[in-house]
Amino acid sequence: MLVYGMTDNGNRSKIAYVAMSADFIHSGHLNILHKARELGEVVVGLLTDEAIASYKRMPLLTYDQRLVIVENLKGVSRVIPQATPDYTDNLLALKPDYVVHGDDWQTGPGRKIRERVIETLKLWGGELIEPRYTEGLSSSHLVSGLRRRGITTEIRQKSFRRLLDIKPLVRIMEVHNGLTGLIVEETRVETGDGYREFDGMWESSLTDSASKGKPDNSSVDVSSRVDTIQQILEVTTKPIIVDADNGGLPEHFQFTVKTLERLGVSAVVIEDKVGSKRNSLFGTDVDQTQDSIEEFAEKIRTGKLAQAGEDFMIIARIESLILAKGMDDALARAKAYVEAGADGIMIHSREKTPDEVLTFCEHFRRYSATIPIVAVPSTYNAVTEDELEKAGVNVVIYANHLLRSAYPAMVRTAETILRSGRSLEANELCLPIKDVLNLIPVS
Ligand code: SPV
Ligand code: MG
Repeated sequence: MLVYGMTDNGNRSKIAYVAMSADFIHSGHLNILHKARELGEVVVGLLTDEAIASYKRMPLLTYDQRLVIVENLKGVSRVIPQATPDYTDNLLALKPDYVVHGDDWQTGPGRKIRERVIETLKLWGGELIEPRYTEGLSSSHLVSGLRRRGITTEIRQKSFRRLLDIKPLVRIMEVHNGLTGLIVEETRVETGDGYREFDGMWESSLTDSASKGKPDNSSVDVSSRVDTIQQILEVTTKPIIVDADNGGLPEHFQFTVKTLERLGVSAVVIEDKVGSKRNSLFGTDVDQTQDSIEEFAEKIRTGKLAQAGEDFMIIARIESLILAKGMDDALARAKAYVEAGADGIMIHSREKTPDEVLTFCEHFRRYSATIPIVAVPSTYNAVTEDELEKAGVNVVIYANHLLRSAYPAMVRTAETILRSGRSLEANELCLPIKDVLNLIPVS
């Protein structure tokens, strides 16, 4: 019998280490494994969900699903988890003779990881082997091709809970139509160690209303909001959180929950205010009344009873800090809402600094280590994602930025055309016609 790491005659066999995400297996992977098998016993470092989500979109398949596949690939002797994109810890533990990876990481964000692999292997004379990368066959190409075809309502809905499980901080951006949905879907920047993108979408009452030329006071009714949500769902695959103002009357809210759940929305956020709705960022400058703890808890309970499955989330948004009711009130409400069944707490503030939000998190985390906290740093926007994450925040929402940036750009173009009596001068403010035509490819 072949004991792992030993040849039949008892000598230590060579070890070839291959790190993989294996969300999609294609001939490029088999090629790498084949090469590794020629060199020695193949140990696969299977990247954990957390490791993958830290540098690109989270995998479609879970770690356990991917593990079953990789364990059964021909030539693979053993599979161990690789908990970070960086190989160093696994290499030091395993001291493989070879690491095998396609040569595509010589440039781009994999470059630094590659350099560390080479440095680490040097410690015991190991070698990096880099077979030619198979053009056009990366999993990212396949995954994006698949995503263009869409996603099921169930997978999309669950994906928000999965993100909460595997990412320390889930990054959400505002959307108010199909185009902004596409921007959140596709915008990606390269960072030192990988790629960064938004994890999901916030269908904001403020920006949905503003894009229809209406105030943020529930003038845009639920049917119209659902229509916009449908447009966004149609062209995206990322999870969506819907801002449902105060949720309306409990007997109406239960139907909103059913509708949103059926659409594949992942979560609804309702705020603990009553009466004619005003945007929170007005704070105490306008008349806004907070609901009683009992009534709002009852609304949460009604909503939770209305949902058909387990995945949909109801997040309770606390307006105590907005309405100058104090920290104790905010914390008492948070506990009462969680007891009523809220799946998460959004703590809102319109201070210029994050202090009160951070204090809230510190106290709330003593009460619950796990209930997700959502923050909306619109006014206290010097705070960084790292600082929010350290304070225990799980979800950051950039609540209105795509609309706010589009508006001044459009006004500037309108003014330029009026001033010039023609549109030539506006050219530099506009996307070239050719690019508009190609902005959304026909698939
Ligand atoms: C929204 O985006 O509509 C919100 C967040 O509710 S805020 O505008 O800050 O109240
Ligand atoms: Mg709103």
